[in-house]
Amino acid sequence: MNPIEVVIAGPEAVALVTLLAGGLLIVAYALRTGVPPMPTGSGIRAVMLRLLPATVDGTVYDLGSGWGGLAFALARRYPSNRVVGIELSPLPWLFARAMLMLRRYPNLEFRRAELMAASLSDAGAVVCYLMPATMRRLAPKLTAELRPGTPVVAYSFAFDGWPPDAAVLEAESGPMPVYRYTVTRAPTVTPDPGASSPAGT
Ligand SMILES: C[S@@+](CC[C@H](N)C(=O)[O-])C[C@H]1O[C@@H](n2cnc3c(N)ncnc32)[C@H](O)[C@@H]1O
Repeated sequence: MNPIEVVIAGPEAVALVTLLAGGLLIVAYALRTGVPPMPTGSGIRAVMLRLLPATVDGTVYDLGSGWGGLAFALARRYPSNRVVGIELSPLPWLFARAMLMLRRYPNLEFRRAELMAASLSDAGAVVCYLMPATMRRLAPKLTAELRPGTPVVAYSFAFDGWPPDAAVLEAESGPMPVYRYTVTRAPTVTPDPGASSPAGT
């Protein structure tokens, strides 16, 4: 018998193919969104939670919720608020959903969706850990949809041209900063083609 056939036959082969297919799916979606499903560690989450207010008015969104760890932390922090994790990549989203079925978090929801298509008008706070190109696309959406005073906390990358009201770089949060912004301008209802477009906060 060929020893290679022994190695790849049976349940091990099924497991190997499943793992490979899962890995490929994760890579395919990371290429599609431009953001890998890299989770925030507990130290980063602690700093992000610290930069958020004690209470918020509205839904708390994790835009690009990945495997769900940050969204679970938000749901614990804000038990009276709805917390919504939005994630496009199927496997991280499925994993987060499975975790949610095993744990009781009545205020938490994971939506498999394109974050740019989500309505954020009911947001009380927004968190994200994305890549610069996605942040650039997201900034005008946040400016247009979020109510003035809404806190936005971002890990690792800043929003171009938005002055943060805090930027924290600590050993606890790793080598990249955590930024907090506060949306201060009312959403634009009627675009003025003659006006310049300053920063969104
Ligand atoms: C770096 S992970 C962060 C995960 C989680 N927020 C955390 O902090 O642990 C970013 C996630 O955003 C998701 N993502 C990126 N662009 C997206 C988009 N346009 N719509 C939905 N999800 C997106 C990626 O699939 C990835 O899982």
